[in-house]
Amino acid sequence: MRIAIGCDHGGFPLKQTVIDVVQNAGHDFLDLGTHSTDATDYPDYSEKVARAVLDGKADRGIVICGSGVGATVAANKFKGIRAGLCHDTFSARQGVEDDDMNVLTLGARIIGPLLAIEVIQAFLKARFSNAERHLRRLNKVKGFEENFGR
Ligand code: RB5
Repeated sequence: MRIAIGCDHGGFPLKQTVIDVVQNAGHDFLDLGTHSTDATDYPDYSEKVARAVLDGKADRGIVICGSGVGATVAANKFKGIRAGLCHDTFSARQGVEDDDMNVLTLGARIIGPLLAIEVIQAFLKARFSNAERHLRRLNKVKGFEENFGR
């Protein structure tokens, strides 16, 4: 897979770890910035990653901010993006298998690098189950986008 990776200044300290995990797992990546701890705006990086996934330039995305919350909120404003803030491996795996999560978000000020590595590995290994009950639930979520989104 190709993974689009973006972060704001709060997420920057974890970005190289994320890149290393993605590469070590045999995946390609797009580094969409930021490239330093100079202050930036997290929505810009959620947008870059979301558009890369929606435009087919990446299969999935990972966005990192300080808490992970802002990046998650912003990414989920894009139709077709299912971003989940996961600081445990169970959620990272099940979020893909059951909910077809296509963007993982992380809070670099919350999660330590060793746990982050395992969380990212779980996200990358997981595949959507395509189970009928999960497709039914996913279609309800997609219906929200169609009916209430712009
Ligand atoms: C930046 O200071 C911080 O607000 C941002 O990285 C993130 O935590 C927002 O949710």
